[in-house]
Amino acid sequence: MLTSRQIFLQHIAQTSDLPLALEFDRALGSWMYGPKGRMLDMISGISVSNVGHSHPKIIQAVQEQITKFAHLMVYGEFVQSPQALLAKAIVDSIDLNLDNVYFLNSGTEVVELAIKLAKRYTGRQELISFRNAYHGSTHGSLSVMGDEFFKTQYRPLLSHCHSIRYNIFEDLAQITEKTAGVIVEVVQAEAGIIPGNEQWLKTLEERCREVGALLIVDEIQTGMGRLGGFSGSKLAGIHPDILLLAKGFGGGMPISALLAKKSTMSVLMNNPYLGHLTTFGGNAVCAAAALANLNVIQEEIDFDRVITLGNFLSQELTTIFEVSVRHRGLMIGVDFENVAITQKIIKKAIDFEILTDWFLFNPSTMRIGPSLNISDEDIDFFLTQMKKIKSNL
Ligand SMILES: Cc1ncc(COP(=O)(O)O)c(C=O)c1O
Repeated sequence: MLTSRQIFLQHIAQTSDLPLALEFDRALGSWMYGPKGRMLDMISGISVSNVGHSHPKIIQAVQEQITKFAHLMVYGEFVQSPQALLAKAIVDSIDLNLDNVYFLNSGTEVVELAIKLAKRYTGRQELISFRNAYHGSTHGSLSVMGDEFFKTQYRPLLSHCHSIRYNIFEDLAQITEKTAGVIVEVVQAEAGIIPGNEQWLKTLEERCREVGALLIVDEIQTGMGRLGGFSGSKLAGIHPDILLLAKGFGGGMPISALLAKKSTMSVLMNNPYLGHLTTFGGNAVCAAAALANLNVIQEEIDFDRVITLGNFLSQELTTIFEVSVRHRGLMIGVDFENVAITQKIIKKAIDFEILTDWFLFNPSTMRIGPSLNISDEDIDFFLTQMKKIKSNL
């Protein structure tokens, strides 16, 4: 009989020659366990398990909902209380005067809907995004990706898409009366953790208002507590027209949300009606998990600790490796000299029971993004192992 590993390599579509191919069958808190031992998860499934793995309140919510029903009807036709309660809770928690929610299944799907909404609402075609931005892998999201290497073989993509430089004031002049929407992250994640300059983000918002373009903020990595608040937009003092959540929104289940004002979202209701459809978006079991996750963030995550822990970890990593470290909250990027060194450290870390990663557009930077409730003891373990790795290089 084939082992799971053999089946994985033979029958699961691969997207690189060298998948990590680590095997796990259980995860709890910040730890993952498999046949070859345990591993401290310092990346949270790429900003997904913000409240750790297998949180008992999320498990309970899933179990309770699955015994009632999983799926009844496509999105938007029936009143389903897990969806309704989740919509109210997320509108209140984000607290940015965005009172309407469209639930989908993944990050890239809410990006696709944001693109449609911006075009339909403004009657314009042009989309502006930023260099080194990652917003997903479907055609619309790929069109607003800020990296040519990953796009070029998939052309033609959407026309009228331009990427401009992040944090550069003069480039904002390229946002004009022709622009339907501008999609931005408050901290560019896959660029290797590049925090948006607050004054620049505010100027970006002003420019969008000036020309009537919609400001779309992709909070798929920055949302749900990772920066020390429910949204990075609120922390930065900006007011998106459209705010996107996924990843850490579902507590490990696949669900995403697009938040906007009802007046913006209402363009989906006519000419043509049924302006966006989904079968599984807002699935009841996922919505119940997301609601439990949101409550856990509210009740158990100490946002001040997220910020102090982010500062502490960044300082410690700077001292251990004598390199520069960029961070906001618990999004941390450790800059090594070159890709070879980063890969060597990431591989060594696995031998030392630590899972880290690199960034899509910045492979010489090591990704650190633990669960927001990682214990002090686990942080001590991580730093002890990092010191051992440094002295074993
Ligand atoms: C900032 C950002 N936006 C969008 C996406 C796409 O999300 P998904 O992989 O759920 O489609 C990602 C995924 O990494 C992301 O980091």
